[in-house]
Amino acid sequence: MNDIDVDLSGKVAFITGAGMGFGRRMAYRFAKAGAAIAVTDIDLGRAEAAAAAIREQNGKAVAIQLDVADETAVVPAVAQAVEALGGIDILVNNAGKHLMKYNKPFGDLPTHEIRALFDVNMMGVIFCTLAVKETMRQRGGGAIINISSIAGFGSKNAYGVSKLAVRGLTIAFAQELAEDKIRVNAIAPGLIATEQALEEMPDAMVRSLVDDMQVIHRLGDMDDIANMALFLVSPAASFITGETMKVAGGYPLAI
Ligand SMILES: NC(=O)c1ccc[n+]([C@@H]2O[C@H](COP(=O)([O-])OP(=O)(O)OC[C@H]3O[C@@H](n4cnc5c(N)ncnc54)[C@H](O)[C@@H]3O)[C@@H](O)[C@H]2O)c1
Repeated sequence: MNDIDVDLSGKVAFITGAGMGFGRRMAYRFAKAGAAIAVTDIDLGRAEAAAAAIREQNGKAVAIQLDVADETAVVPAVAQAVEALGGIDILVNNAGKHLMKYNKPFGDLPTHEIRALFDVNMMGVIFCTLAVKETMRQRGGGAIINISSIAGFGSKNAYGVSKLAVRGLTIAFAQELAEDKIRVNAIAPGLIATEQALEEMPDAMVRSLVDDMQVIHRLGDMDDIANMALFLVSPAASFITGETMKVAGGYPLAI
C-alpha cells in the first residue's frame, strides 16, 4: 500500500485508545509525519509501550492514562498533554467499546452494559472534544477525527446506534467549532484486520463480508484508516468538515 505524504511537523496529536489497534497505528503514522503524540489509553502499560516505540524511531511522544468515559479524568489528561507538548492541534477520538460483545440487540444486553457502551463511544467523544477546544482555539484552529463504523450506517444494534451517534456528533461539532477554525470529520471503517477483530470474528463471517458484501475483495488494513486520517487532518482537506468517510472496500454502497 502506498503511504499518503503529509507533513505534520510542529503539530501535536492527542489520540485516545492509542495503546493498540487503529489508535496505535495512527499514532505511529502521525509521528512518522512529524507530529508529537499524546498516546492516551485506559491501559497505561500499552500507552507507554507505544510511546516508547515512537521515541525509539526518533519521534516525540508521551504516554497518558485516560479512560475517556471518566469525565473527571479528561480535562487533567488534556492539561498533561498541553504541559508536556505545548498544546494540541489534532484530536483522534478512537477509543471505543466494540466487537461481538456489543453487536447485539438492546434487549440482549444488560442495561449497565448499554450504559457503559454509550459512556465510552458517545460521551467519551463529547468529553474529549470539549476538553481540547480551548487549546486548539488558542493555536488558531485544529482538526478532530472521530472513529465511527460502517455499523453506524446500518444501525442494527446497540453498537451500531453508538456509532450512528458518533456521526451525529461529527455533524454537530463541525458546526459548533467552525468559528474556532476546528474541522471535525469521522471515519467509518469496515472490517479491518486488527489483532482483536480477527481473533473474535468467526471465519465464515469474515469471508462473507470480504467475498460477498465488499466490492474490493480484500481485508481492510490499519494503514487504510491511518491514510484517511492523515488526509483529513492535512491542509489538503481544509474544505471538508462534518463528513463521515467510509473506508470499507465498498460495503455498503448506497445513495
Ligand atoms: N477493528 C475494526 O474492524 C473496527 C471497525 C469499525 C470501527 N472500529 C472502531 O475503531 C476504534 C478502535 O478499534 P480497534 O479495533 O483498533 O480497537 P482495539 O480493541 O484493538 O483497541 C482499542 C484500544 O482502546 C483502549 N480502550 C478501551 N476502552 C477505553 C476507554 N474507555 N478509554 C480509553 N481507551 C480505551 C484499549 O485499551 C485498546 O488499547 C473503536 O472505536 C472501534 O469501535 C473498529
